[in-house]
Amino acid sequence: MRVDIITVVPGLLDSPFSHSIMKRAQANGLLDVQVHNLRDHTPYKQAQVDDYQFGGGAGMVLMPEPLAILIEKLQEERKYDEVIYMTPDGPTFNQKTANRLSLLGNLMIICGHYKGIDDRIRQHFVTMEISIGDYVLSGGELAAAVVVDAIGRLIPGVLNDETSALSDSFQDNLLAPPVYTRPADFRGWKVPEILLSGDHRKVEEWRHEESMKRTAERRPDLLEGNN
Ligand code: ADE
Repeated sequence: MRVDIITVVPGLLDSPFSHSIMKRAQANGLLDVQVHNLRDHTPYKQAQVDDYQFGGGAGMVLMPEPLAILIEKLQEERKYDEVIYMTPDGPTFNQKTANRLSLLGNLMIICGHYKGIDDRIRQHFVTMEISIGDYVLSGGELAAAVVVDAIGRLIPGVLNDETSALSDSFQDNLLAPPVYTRPADFRGWKVPEILLSGDHRKVEEWRHEESMKRTAERRPDLLEGNN
């Protein structure tokens, strides 16, 4: 999967893809994340990319021209399955959306900053909008990193154990069961006996019951299929 991210603060995206699973996914050629600095593509003097909003009001808006220039340049190089705009007023991101996006080939992600981007870009270029929750970040960069991480780990072959994404929370509308590792007795706090039994069928049954219990206690909305 190729992901092109458009931002005015590229430094915010230096680290998230340089470690752990995202780093390995890129080293293995399964994920290619390219970050583009909008300021490198503006026709305006002094690398201007934003301006005051028409009608008055506090906060700057990213101008349409630099965004259109960069989006069209990228679109000449490849066809994008989605042009995504990160915005708190978009539909909320969830595992179902992550699953769908992980099967696509080329994604473009536009990060807003300040008050956001000129609405004409949303109307004429953006095919999908994503919010990562009902709160406002100072820009879309951290939200884009969240989305690319969630998608990237689902790309087939990225996780060592292919089944490990299947047992994540939310994959069946259920939260994951509790997990334990050595030692089996830590300060007298014991691991549930069944996990040491070696009986895989019983272990799976126990995990399913624990998932149901956790979901009912913490996220009953998931059991009602309301997510
Ligand atoms: N940009 C600012 N806040 C955001 C949010 N909650 N989700 C996505 N993009 C954003």
